[in-house]
Amino acid sequence: MTPAPVRRLLRDLAQLATPRGTDAPLRRRALGEVEVLEDAYILCNGNTIEAIGRMRDLPALDGDVAELDCRGLCAVPGLVDCHTHAAFGGDRVDEFSLRAGGASYEELHAAGGGILSTVRATREAGTAGLLAAVELHRSWMLSEGTTTFEAKSGYGLDRETELASLRAIREAGGIPTWLGAHAVPPEFDDADAYLDFALADVLPEAAAIAEAADVFLERGAFDAAQARRYLEACRDAGLALRLHGDQFTESGAIPLAVELAARSVDHLEATGEEGVKQLASSDVVGVLLPASALFLDRPMPPARALVDAGAAVALATDFNPGSAFCESLPLVCSLAAAQLHLSPAEALGACTVNAAHVLGRAADIGRLAPGYRADVTLLDAPDWRYLAYHLGARVVARVVVGGELR
Ligand code: NIG
Ligand code: FE
Repeated sequence: MTPAPVRRLLRDLAQLATPRGTDAPLRRRALGEVEVLEDAYILCNGNTIEAIGRMRDLPALDGDVAELDCRGLCAVPGLVDCHTHAAFGGDRVDEFSLRAGGASYEELHAAGGGILSTVRATREAGTAGLLAAVELHRSWMLSEGTTTFEAKSGYGLDRETELASLRAIREAGGIPTWLGAHAVPPEFDDADAYLDFALADVLPEAAAIAEAADVFLERGAFDAAQARRYLEACRDAGLALRLHGDQFTESGAIPLAVELAARSVDHLEATGEEGVKQLASSDVVGVLLPASALFLDRPMPPARALVDAGAAVALATDFNPGSAFCESLPLVCSLAAAQLHLSPAEALGACTVNAAHVLGRAADIGRLAPGYRADVTLLDAPDWRYLAYHLGARVVARVVVGGELR
């Protein structure tokens, strides 16, 4: 006989806040519609939410129920980080210091530093070192309230290290994306020769581990024709598609993403009015990465224009050693409110429901409602909007992942 699943009651929550309804992705007004219950409970049954409600409506519960006193805490859905580069060795603290003195990110990249310096460190880390790194980064994310994370390869750029990165991400509980087209590694003369190799020798196995493929479409990285070739091959191998686009220049990422029915185009710091319109009339999600714009002192993406035009937007950290050494979605929510002019409610929808949609999981995660996975982020705050309001502070008290307290 299999034992009955453990029931866990999170009781006496100051507030429970969750995006309303069941639709995904959320657009326009719906993005900001948050249901708030004061003096609330969440009943978990095994790894699933069984019920939510006000304490005064809590029914008598038979059998064993583990109770957690949540007085003074607010519950939001477990946060979903849909864009990270958590599989890397080493760091770029020297480069960070140089940038502080005026060196530009693109110049460092062109001089063989930047992404390629992390490629060297990641190749040196070895399989065990890479797994240890992803697990460490995962623990940082968890303590910031992230209960689901996507992570990309892209710092191996050889067969062995790309596949080891994807496996390490899976083993650490993440959702792997093959960023096989991140940069051209030093052993290749040009991007086309590198893509010949990556598509012939890495894609077949990468497609068996990863869920999606991603490409850095940018001046100095891959152009639109190369991105198309890479993405079409990845799509034919069964992968969902994503793009890094419009980070520094508008180089055709949005039209390509729309044409290939990609799940998302991410960054968008350089997107103009036409791009906003195109994205808004498509099913492609715009993933906004304000911590990266802040870290590189770049303009913020046109978030308000995108939401008002009807685009689906998500928020993510872009956690990586070079352009965003930041694993905190609460900080990203603060930047969303203070810099992108999204309300705390819109920010919440963007890093729960819409981020889950980018990962193809919006039916399972991103909301606090019966039937969803019991992933809960508990905030040490009297009002759930402290998620965005408490700038750079430790706002996450605990997390519940699949019904288990972490
Ligand atoms: O999303 N822009 C390309 N890739 C990463 C940064 C990579 C790095 O600097 O190591 C990004 O910002
Ligand atoms: Fe990125």
